[in-house]
Amino acid sequence: SDGICKGGARETLFVDGAKLQEQIDELAGFSDTPAPTVTRILYTPNDVAARRYVKTLMSEAGLSVREDAIGNIFGRWEGSDPSLPAVGSGSHTDAIPYAGKYDGVLGVLGAIEAIRALQRVNFQPKRAIEAVMFTSEEPTRFGFGCLGSRAMAKSGEIFDILRASKDANNVSFVEAARSAGYGDVEEKLESSGLGHEVYSAFVELHIEQGPLLEKEGIPIGVVTAIAAPASLKVGFKGDGGHAGALLMPDRNDAGLAGAELALAVEEHVLASGSVDTVGTTGVLEIHPGAVNSVPREARLEIDVRDIDEARRDKVVAGIRASAESIAKKRNVRITNFEVVNQDPPAKSGEKIVEAAKQAAESLGLEYKLMISRAYHDSLFMARITPMGMIFVPCFKGYSHRPDEFASVEDMTKGVQVLALTLSQLSSA
Ligand code: GLV
Ligand code: MN
Ligand code: MN
Ligand code: MN
Repeated sequence: SDGICKGGARETLFVDGAKLQEQIDELAGFSDTPAPTVTRILYTPNDVAARRYVKTLMSEAGLSVREDAIGNIFGRWEGSDPSLPAVGSGSHTDAIPYAGKYDGVLGVLGAIEAIRALQRVNFQPKRAIEAVMFTSEEPTRFGFGCLGSRAMAKSGEIFDILRASKDANNVSFVEAARSAGYGDVEEKLESSGLGHEVYSAFVELHIEQGPLLEKEGIPIGVVTAIAAPASLKVGFKGDGGHAGALLMPDRNDAGLAGAELALAVEEHVLASGSVDTVGTTGVLEIHPGAVNSVPREARLEIDVRDIDEARRDKVVAGIRASAESIAKKRNVRITNFEVVNQDPPAKSGEKIVEAAKQAAESLGLEYKLMISRAYHDSLFMARITPMGMIFVPCFKGYSHRPDEFASVEDMTKGVQVLALTLSQLSSA
């Protein structure tokens, strides 16, 4: 069988968009900051509340729910042949400070709704279909993202890194996880790693987070590749001093070193000559941060991405060289130069792209093949299974801001495409 595409059931495939919107709105209520902003940081009470909510929805859909040591959540709809690798679909529910309510959330609640839509037409999957909620796709708390999917894919030294990680308040990853109810995280962390035999495919539904689909009036994006992200932490230290008494020639202002490095980031990025190279100094903090004090320390967090890994790495190398020359020139010390992550890009699996294209076609929906410039848990799932992503338009491409918005109509189409894609992949 070819899923339900060939069975004609698509005519009756009903996705409950109104219900999905209600759920998105309800989940948005679990936030550390007032509406319309959403702030949901890993292992905080609101993150735990969101997890509980997702598990409830999974249970209500008749899925068997399990959680791994790091808190990745799985809702399994068993297939007629439970011995086969499953088809996974999901995303994240954590939200960066002052964000919106659709990023990630659509992919989690949408996967559950896609399963419900297939259940409504009495579709019987051959392979199990699993809705997945990943732990902390966003880098907010521990400085790097995709904690849950990196762990699943056993990426690099992820388990050692997690055991050694501390947040800005010096709370360790292990302590934070314990406070959220993951008491055996330290001993059982490795058990969240999966082999290649667990999934035969993974599909993530997500808002585009860019303006192309809306601009071109196309309802569906089929992602062919995810760009390569890197992030850096840099610290400068000078001597500081009195803003009135310390004369200019005698200063080594760490704040200015930081400012200069932020400008150098932009220069290196622009020098690549490609619009696909992007770089951002999203954190630039100075210490002690008093108007009458020469900054003694600067702390930067820098994000660099490209679809071309070598070109991205050249920018990272340039930033390192600039940090050294700026420190020398300004007579400050580099206290930290840490490449937090430097991940390769990932290509979508051919069969997932094909299934998503066919799903859109059979629904009469126009689609566009596109690259994801944002990273997603699918970047790491690609290491253990063929992955693909389905994008839906969002208002002006806004994301990571409170006015992030996707229409019910567009989300509904996205879930329909997801449902048909899952039906096909789970039947093959
Ligand atoms: C994910 O939020 C990203 O920063 O791409
Ligand atoms: Mn995000
Ligand atoms: Mn996201
Ligand atoms: Mn993200």
